[in-house]
Amino acid sequence: MKRSGCSIFGLVLILFGSSQLICTRGFESLLKLPQSGSTRTRPRSKRVLFLADFGAKGDGFTNDTKALINTWEIACSFPSRTRIVIPAGRAYLVHPVSLGGPCRSKVTLRISGTITAPKDPDVWVGLNPRKWLYIHGVNHLTIEGGGTINGMGEEWWDRSCKRNSTNPCRHAPTAITFHRCKNLKVKDLMLVNSQQMHMAFTHCIRVLASHLKVIAPSASPNTDGVHISTSKGVMIKDSIIRTGDDCISIVGNSSRVKIINIVCGPGHGISIGSLGKSNSRSEVHDIMVDGSLISNTENGVRIKTWQGGSGFASNITFQNLLMKNVSNPIIIDQYYCDSLLPCPNQTLAVKVENISFIHIRGTSATEKAIQFSCSDDLPCEGLYLEDILLLSVNGGTTKSFCWEARGSSLGLVDPPACFSYSEGFIKMKGLSESAIYSL
Ligand SMILES: *[C@@H]1O[C@H](CO)[C@@H](O)[C@H](O)[C@H]1NC(C)=O
Ligand SMILES: *[C@@H]1O[C@H](CO)[C@@H](O)[C@H](O)[C@H]1NC(C)=O
Ligand SMILES: *[C@@H]1O[C@H](CO)[C@@H](O)[C@H](O)[C@H]1NC(C)=O
Ligand SMILES: *[C@@H]1O[C@H](CO)[C@@H](O)[C@H](O)[C@H]1NC(C)=O
Ligand SMILES: *[C@@H]1O[C@H](CO)[C@@H](O)[C@H](O)[C@H]1NC(C)=O
Ligand SMILES: *[C@@H]1O[C@H](CO)[C@@H](O)[C@H](O)[C@H]1NC(C)=O
Ligand SMILES: *[C@@H]1O[C@H](CO)[C@@H](O)[C@H](O)[C@H]1NC(C)=O
Repeated sequence: MKRSGCSIFGLVLILFGSSQLICTRGFESLLKLPQSGSTRTRPRSKRVLFLADFGAKGDGFTNDTKALINTWEIACSFPSRTRIVIPAGRAYLVHPVSLGGPCRSKVTLRISGTITAPKDPDVWVGLNPRKWLYIHGVNHLTIEGGGTINGMGEEWWDRSCKRNSTNPCRHAPTAITFHRCKNLKVKDLMLVNSQQMHMAFTHCIRVLASHLKVIAPSASPNTDGVHISTSKGVMIKDSIIRTGDDCISIVGNSSRVKIINIVCGPGHGISIGSLGKSNSRSEVHDIMVDGSLISNTENGVRIKTWQGGSGFASNITFQNLLMKNVSNPIIIDQYYCDSLLPCPNQTLAVKVENISFIHIRGTSATEKAIQFSCSDDLPCEGLYLEDILLLSVNGGTTKSFCWEARGSSLGLVDPPACFSYSEGFIKMKGLSESAIYSL
């Protein structure tokens, strides 16, 4: 496949008047994700299992869960590399299911057709409401195939307290969760209309997710695109995410995470946090968000922490980003409170330190283009701004807002930085693939 090596700066230049149209191709090709991978046949040494051979109907109505479980169990216990094929042109109805490892050998799950969830939330009565497709304890799993995972979330959204406050607040499933997985690759998949979050990595080590397309209505509640929790060595790249919540969220004790070439929006932007909820401790560090387009979102790049937490969010770089009509393009919010009741003021806080924002341009939908609302008791330190230009989308002015924020800046920063001076970490020395995966 021909890769267009075009950076986001092609787009930045277009926005500011120069015509670098060669570069729009890069994004157009990204917007039309390859529908499926190559069709060349693989060497015979790899065993291939078709879901239909295990009784799956793929008609969209029959409960094909047992066929998937049986196929998985055979593949997972097979002594050499195995591929499970979920063929194109069919829809497999799968009830909440848990596929566990360890497996004897590497497994590839090739999803070219569609996996659909039961649309009735009552199917989950007596089951864990946070899980639909739950894959755990697997080493060297690859998921690919150009197919679709459809959470059929509409009824869950209608029952959400975010949509109608007379509803009780209850959890809804994450469409696909990877728990304690190692050396995981997920590529070339479409995820639509999840019940709640679309894809989550929890306690995983070494993950590469690429060429994902995640789509849900902007008004669907809590439908984060990709959620990374307590995972190390994660790269998410070349993906399009349009949902009702964060395109990508990073929480827990996560580190060495790189997010690159994402088209995000609508949604809530790319977030670190929320951290520190219910007085919890989090240590999030070595995160880089690079080369992405964020448009028509509530936030651009954000760090959000609840009062009363502890730990830190540090060594984080956001760079080479284009914002288009984003309400809060750059925001640190240490007073985050996503609850129906107001959150009382507390002294403990997650320390926010060594955060760089470099080469971020575009338009803000509100006047407050830069906001650093830091903790009264534990101010933000080592913030760094370089080459920032955030103009108002409707021709007005833009401003920076600072509260207990300390840092430094270099070169053009518009709106001008408002923090008090503190030296800090300047810029991550890259976060190369080897650095991410050498764990
Ligand atoms: C679907 O199949 C799975 C696996 O056999 C079973 O656990 C589940 O109860 C079935 N669901 C319904 C609604 O039949
Ligand atoms: C919220 O739910 C209540 C009770 O089910 C219902 O009467 C009301 O019409 C709903 N409101 C909206 C805006 O959907
Ligand atoms: C993060 O790690 C710390 C220390 O190991 C632990 O106390 C804390 O509970 C962890 N936090 C989360 C959110 O898992
Ligand atoms: C952040 O980076 C600085 C400078 O490289 C390093 O001294 C510090 O240990 C790092 N912090 C964490 C939590 O890894
Ligand atoms: C900007 O976003 C707002 C919603 O945040 C929307 O109402 C408005 O139409 C958008 N403007 C442009 C120029 O896209
Ligand atoms: C919490 O602190 C903020 C800032 O210091 C103040 O504006 C607000 O009134 C306080 N809220 C409560 C509930 O005390
Ligand atoms: C922030 O960066 C400074 C300077 O590189 C380093 O000494 C410090 O340990 C870093 N803080 C954290 C919490 O990583």
